[in-house]
Amino acid sequence: MNSQERIKQLLDFREKARKGGGEKRIDDQHSKGKLTARERITLLLDEGSFEEYDMFVTHRTEDFGLADKKFLSDGVITGHGTIDGRIVFVFAQDFTVFGGSLSETFAQKICKIMDKAMKVGAPVIGINDSGGARIQEGVRSLAGYAEIFERNILASGLIPQISAIFGPCAGGAVYSPALTDFIIMSKKSSYMFVTGPKVAKAVTGEDISIDDLGGAVVHSSRSGVAHFTVEDEEDGLILIRKLLSYMPQNNLEEPPQTECDDPIDRVDDELNELVPDSANQPYDMKEVICRVVDYGEFLEVHASYAKNIVVGFAKFDGMPTGIIANQPNFLAGVLDIEASRKAARFIRFCDAFNIPLVTLVDVPGFLPGSTQEYGGIIIHGAKLMFAYGEATVPKVTVTLRKSYGGAHCVMSSKQLRGDINYAWPTAEIAVMGPQGAIEVLEGKNISEIEDPKARKEYVSKKEEEYRTKFANPYEAARYGYLDDVIEPRNTRFRIIRALRSLATKKDPGPLKKHSNIPL
Ligand code: HXC
Repeated sequence: MNSQERIKQLLDFREKARKGGGEKRIDDQHSKGKLTARERITLLLDEGSFEEYDMFVTHRTEDFGLADKKFLSDGVITGHGTIDGRIVFVFAQDFTVFGGSLSETFAQKICKIMDKAMKVGAPVIGINDSGGARIQEGVRSLAGYAEIFERNILASGLIPQISAIFGPCAGGAVYSPALTDFIIMSKKSSYMFVTGPKVAKAVTGEDISIDDLGGAVVHSSRSGVAHFTVEDEEDGLILIRKLLSYMPQNNLEEPPQTECDDPIDRVDDELNELVPDSANQPYDMKEVICRVVDYGEFLEVHASYAKNIVVGFAKFDGMPTGIIANQPNFLAGVLDIEASRKAARFIRFCDAFNIPLVTLVDVPGFLPGSTQEYGGIIIHGAKLMFAYGEATVPKVTVTLRKSYGGAHCVMSSKQLRGDINYAWPTAEIAVMGPQGAIEVLEGKNISEIEDPKARKEYVSKKEEEYRTKFANPYEAARYGYLDDVIEPRNTRFRIIRALRSLATKKDPGPLKKHSNIPL
């Protein structure tokens, strides 16, 4: 072959590789409303930035008639490119080749980019669309999965890892996304489960559809496995780009600071009116968030799961920040098992990647009752406490209204190394709310009053006395547990100043192999 023929051969190989499993399978993929692996990568990355690796890789299996059934790239497209000019490593499983099933060589391709990403210090984005272990490869496929899992674990806390689920993701295959930082599922075409509906029916007798067992809605609202649900793949790919804009490339870098035209001293008079006079009346904490952050932009994580706590990313004067806020609009903002797990995981992500935390508190306490106790609220609540107490990033807390009991300690209190703790004048920081406190302290006296009217008057008098004495911010401020009581309208300005003052914070804990978070 002369050099021209060799170049043509290369181009022919490339053309063939780009066809994946062939035109028919690509058409099938499109007819299901799904994009191909290469189309997904093209949409995800900055235009023309993709550099592909291992296009010529094929599997090495001879059994089951596979010797002459080989496809260039072997069902997964891997490489690197840029998002907003920053390097990312990416793999996209190609359902048109053996249903995107994972072979030994397929796994090696993914491991190669994960190893590179860890050395370089750049995020890994995985796009999943696969029938799981390639059945013809047996244990080699299982070993391949385990190689990937180990790298997910090593990369955790070192580089951001994001998983998009745009098709099937079943069996042990679910554990790679589960080990990553964020999971995004598309509503129309994705599902995740350890065992599918058929096995569920055979083993437990349960009759359940694929969507009800492991669809995007279920995982984003009930199990909490998915952090985000998107309408379609295009939305999912845009979301990945947005998500990365809040993150550094790795744990040694600071998150990307951007220019901010939203005035840092923007006062908001309506915040002074926002907290209702009645302690039992709800309001929307997301409104508070949007009023204080840059341009009112808030990227909520886990929006449909444990809605009694709100977590997500925003910026203050261009600084990416993680926000954790109790939501009085849902279950009065109570802390329960799901809310504790959700917030703890988010806090640990932010802490690992140097993203400061801003906590907005309005919490009546932990949810009482046997369901919570049997479910292990003690351990799950401890996770949240642990996450806050362990976090060494700047931590700014603003208490808006209630902050009672154990939940007060948990929600980034001063004693859990909260750096700057503010409260609005409407804050009530106490061991418990006036109602509960008076019932405990005055129960005997109350029961002795026979006249119902007199009893009611006595209770409200005692509650008022309690509220005046304890349920206010000044008791905590007197002890220095709060750094200041601030006017609500100035909240944005005060948070930004606090974050600026903490920008160079260093707070290394004692040296140890690792902590033992209550799992
Ligand atoms: C090899 C596979 C495959 C697999 C699909 N294919 N899954 N080949 N190994 N795991 C092939 C099919 O034979 C078919 O090839 C092509 O991919 C497309 O599959 P279809 O079934 O035609 O597509 P569809 O109807 O859309 O159904 C998709 C599917 C189904 C639901 C994913 O293919 C399926 O149930 N696959 C098996 C899933 C599974 O049980 N995997 C193992 C899980 S256990 P042809 O040539 O006919 O077009 C596991 C363990 C991992 O993964 C453990 C890690 C620790």
